[in-house]
Amino acid sequence: MKAVIPAAGFGTRFLPLTKAQPKEMLPVVNKPTIQWVVEEAVDAGITDIAIITGDHKQAIEHHFKPMEKLEKVLEKAGKTEELKEIRKINEIANLEFIVQEEQKGLGHAILCAEDFVGNDSFAVLLGDTICTGNPNCTKGLVNLFYENEANIFSVEEISLEETKRYGVVLGKEVGKGIMLVKDLVEKPEPNDAPSLLGIQGRYVFTSDIFEYLKLTRDGADGEIQLTDAMKSLANTQLLYSWIFNGKRYDIGTMKDWFQSHLELSIESEFSLVLKGVMNKL
Ligand code: UTP
Repeated sequence: MKAVIPAAGFGTRFLPLTKAQPKEMLPVVNKPTIQWVVEEAVDAGITDIAIITGDHKQAIEHHFKPMEKLEKVLEKAGKTEELKEIRKINEIANLEFIVQEEQKGLGHAILCAEDFVGNDSFAVLLGDTICTGNPNCTKGLVNLFYENEANIFSVEEISLEETKRYGVVLGKEVGKGIMLVKDLVEKPEPNDAPSLLGIQGRYVFTSDIFEYLKLTRDGADGEIQLTDAMKSLANTQLLYSWIFNGKRYDIGTMKDWFQSHLELSIESEFSLVLKGVMNKL
């Protein structure tokens, strides 16, 4: 099992913050978002990981590469804890960085990892989304993938007002929290939504998904949508959705970014004070 983490988008919903600062490098508590995501893959037992980046997002690669100058300074100053922490990041996994030359959507970003994945199965973790829970979302999906020998992705329960922001699942319940997917409806009006289960940002596929991605035409916006490829896949292969009951934070939104700080910070005095302030707002 390998993992692919798309992190090459322009982050237009979060401008001007994300003009030079990659959204995936925004700090959450004490580390950048992308590190939380890589750690989720590693906790799920995956060590071969490709991060899809862009020319404008070199900070992501720098974060995981050794920085000799800094290490020497820390060594000299006897800052052994800090040095250990920094070296742990350098060795976190076998990371490969693949540049997506043009930002042509999530499906296109995943296609960039075709050679890296080869014939293996692989998890996809959106680089701007943190999931917490036990087992973590990717681990839960990987276990179910092996159990059912089929493609699977996570969903969350959404409200009627939210359907317009999600890809929504049409399917048949076959187990606790598990649906056999027949179709996916992209951003439906509340009345047209086939369920209240929205796609979340974690997936496990066989390498067959690449064939469906290649058959998927660029949409009107010039992007290759992953959901379109998944719809075609569901016509010919088993595709399951699984309700993930942990927490998900879309760091590309101000609300989730702030909330992730509060909820993921350890119960320090500072976080308790902050929570008190937020509760009053
Ligand atoms: P989003 O659609 O949330 O990110 O994609 P975006 O395109 O950067 O943001 P907006 O919509 O313009 O604000 C989810 C993940 O997929 C990556 C993004 O970097 C993000 O982590 N992505 C998106 C790519 O790698 N390539 C793309 O062409 C698009």
